[in-house]
Amino acid sequence: MDMFIVRGGERLFGSVTVSGAKNSALPLMAAALACEGETTLSSIPNLVDVTTQSRVLGSLGMDVQRDESGLLHLKTVDESACIADYDLVRRMRASVCVLGPLLAKRRMACVSLPGGCNIGDRPIDLHLKGLAALGAQIRVDRGYVIARADRLRGANIFLGGAFGSTVTGTCNVMIAATLAEGTTTIESAACEPEVVDVGNFLNACGARIEGLGTPFLKIEGVERLQAVEHEVIPDRIEAATLMIAAAMTGGDVQLNEVRPDHITAVMEKLREIGVTIQLEYPQQPERRQSVWVKVTQPLKSVDCIALPYPGIPTDVQAQLMSLLACVPGISIVTDKVFPDRFMHASELARMGAKIRRESASAILNGVSRLSGACVMASDLRASAALVLAGLAAEGETVIRRIYHLDRGYECLEEKLIALGANVQRVKDEPENMPESLKLTDGEERPTYSELLDALTGPHWNLNPSEKPTPSAEG
Ligand code: UD1
Repeated sequence: MDMFIVRGGERLFGSVTVSGAKNSALPLMAAALACEGETTLSSIPNLVDVTTQSRVLGSLGMDVQRDESGLLHLKTVDESACIADYDLVRRMRASVCVLGPLLAKRRMACVSLPGGCNIGDRPIDLHLKGLAALGAQIRVDRGYVIARADRLRGANIFLGGAFGSTVTGTCNVMIAATLAEGTTTIESAACEPEVVDVGNFLNACGARIEGLGTPFLKIEGVERLQAVEHEVIPDRIEAATLMIAAAMTGGDVQLNEVRPDHITAVMEKLREIGVTIQLEYPQQPERRQSVWVKVTQPLKSVDCIALPYPGIPTDVQAQLMSLLACVPGISIVTDKVFPDRFMHASELARMGAKIRRESASAILNGVSRLSGACVMASDLRASAALVLAGLAAEGETVIRRIYHLDRGYECLEEKLIALGANVQRVKDEPENMPESLKLTDGEERPTYSELLDALTGPHWNLNPSEKPTPSAEG
């Protein structure tokens, strides 16, 4: 297993290009199952999750190849396979997106329930509700969703849940409905750009979907979808992560291949915090373009709420929390999409952040500087948040379990290094632990003398009589 050593304090400077969106790529790949002929996808990021999705599709009779120019080619070679096994599905929840296309095209599907995950409960009841409304017979047996259907039939479906709309659930039902007989309406559909991207792909293949990007979709079923070539949208979460990295290091960074209209809420929030953001084409936010992010004034604490699109994405909540943890003043970060997604808070606290959890919110008392520590990544976006915290912290930060990052960020460390960050990937072995964080007896803690220094050092603002006199024992 690898870990990162981040030496904080370097100001990020220069230009960086954002990769294609992981969250578009995965359902798009699944949608290829519903098509005749060869689908070709460009700007697909090179990620562990993409490899996993390729393996899921391979197990379902698809030939998936990446050519030298980076294009991903997907073609069905065997329509008889219909089982997506737990071993693959448990690695990545987005593999559940094969359910809709399998049912629509092959009339049967057996997909493992994805199981729990570190960001909270992630049921798929809405996916199943939508597919059942289209006429699928569904049962859950020994951890698998087993579904069969004659030709699916159009229906009126309400897809809202307790936490709003569902992104992959909308993709699943929308893909299935394109091949259903008659008209389907989906109310409370997810409006995320990734859903729109999948819908645009399907329309290019011959589907008839109206209302993409709104909560109301109308889908006229068609007999067949003919595969086409499609370019994936830029990754708005990566763009937001890099913007926050620039802000946290007082940097001056040019991001290329950004769709500003996909991250309006994040840019507005960063501006409210005091970050300067300029667009290449301010009058055309829907155009791919360069965006400049720099810090020219002290930053201010703010409140922010993660909401379904067009709100601040839950996938940027952790990174914003890292930023606000080191902006003096009180900030409140709330997550309405995944109310338990706060595993990063306790790791940030190890770096000196002052954070108190209150149900779906975290209350932060921003400190002027975080300090390096050994921290553990718990999920993809939490890992990114810890890397950002390390960039801004004083001293060295070790981030363990960064395999989460490799699932969803293409070349993040290379991109940060090119901008001037000091990030090193090493094997997670005791001998690679930096001196400043070296273990004494196999545990992650400073040496006794370092703790004694911290207790008796010069930075205390106490009367001499109140200074602690630690015992000299080890
Ligand atoms: C997608 C993204 C993920 C992002 C999330 C929210 C992909 C591959 N992943 O995940 O990065 O964090 O959207 O923007 O695109 N829910 C239900 N029942 C369901 C489905 C969802 O109650 O059947 C709830 C979830 O628990 C959650 C909320 O709805 O509270 C949103 O989840 P959803 O949009 O489905 O997330 P994913 O599509 O899995």
